[in-house]
Amino acid sequence: MKRTHLFMLFSMAVVAMLVLSACGTESAPTATPATSSSTDTTSASGGLPKLAKKDKYKVGFSQTVSDNPWRLAETQSMKDEAAKRGWEIVVTDAGGSAAKQVADVDSLIAQKVDAIFMAPQEEKPLVPAVMKAKAAGIPVILLDRSVDPAQAQGGRDYITFIGSDFVKEGQRVAEWLIKKTGGTAKIIELEGTTGSSPANDRKKGFDDAIKSQPGMQILASQTGQFNRDKGREAMATLLQAHPDVTVVYAHNDEMAIGAIAALEAAGKKPGQDVTVVSVDGEKDGLQAIIDGKLGATCECSPRFGPKAFDTLVSYANGETIPPQIINPDNFFDATNAKDNIANSY
Ligand code: AHR
Repeated sequence: MKRTHLFMLFSMAVVAMLVLSACGTESAPTATPATSSSTDTTSASGGLPKLAKKDKYKVGFSQTVSDNPWRLAETQSMKDEAAKRGWEIVVTDAGGSAAKQVADVDSLIAQKVDAIFMAPQEEKPLVPAVMKAKAAGIPVILLDRSVDPAQAQGGRDYITFIGSDFVKEGQRVAEWLIKKTGGTAKIIELEGTTGSSPANDRKKGFDDAIKSQPGMQILASQTGQFNRDKGREAMATLLQAHPDVTVVYAHNDEMAIGAIAALEAAGKKPGQDVTVVSVDGEKDGLQAIIDGKLGATCECSPRFGPKAFDTLVSYANGETIPPQIINPDNFFDATNAKDNIANSY
């Protein structure tokens, strides 16, 4: 009897250990710094991978999608800067898929790049990519979009985030609109890619700013995935339910231009019947302001190349890099669109 009990207890303990170790291999990525080993690639402070000083590097740029002028301008800026310095750059394009972007970063790691610049498609799904690069001893700089700050942080898991203050962009558009409308508006909001930092933050900045205005109401808020045609489709559908709309706030110029086409197709006059506002400052956006169809757009510059490469060199030189480097943004409306269109993309 006693021997049977002992055997049962032993079996239960073995099963419990097996279950616990299986759970361990499935656990979500955490922000725990990679442990050092005899081939230590991490720096003493914060566990970030080191970067040896070299004249030329081989770097990776993990781009999220290439379906709009903003993305094309960003990739071009990175390529131009690499060419200027004689560095090798490997560019990947995730085609708008977070899963593909994780695989792209795996491929950059396998190609043994010295460092990775990454524009994460969405905040949460790209955390594992940051952690894998860190574990492989490859320093990462996030460009234009960030990852979930609860899981990964600048100065600890990646060197830094370089980009715009998206909350402020939304706020600045709202402030312009409050002045323009006198605080009365029925708004349709076209959101960017769900789960991306610009969509989350531009919504927060705008929605919070108009809360002070009892006469401003959001009729509907829906994603157009930062894409011109998807923005047009979303607007055409929402217009049927909300023909009384007076304002469209699009999270980027591409969706705003799509919305303008949908408004015109429905017989409305953008700029007169409906005020359209957005973010980016691309050439077509500035032209739409000049044509009187777009009210205003807050700039979000895609020209990251010089700052991104300079920051990486500073890091290799052992300089202290802040966990966030925020780009200053201009603001365009009818007062300055003409003066700035030649310099846009
Ligand atoms: O992350 C920045 C945003 O992404 C830009 O506003 C948009 O045009 C792009 O796709």
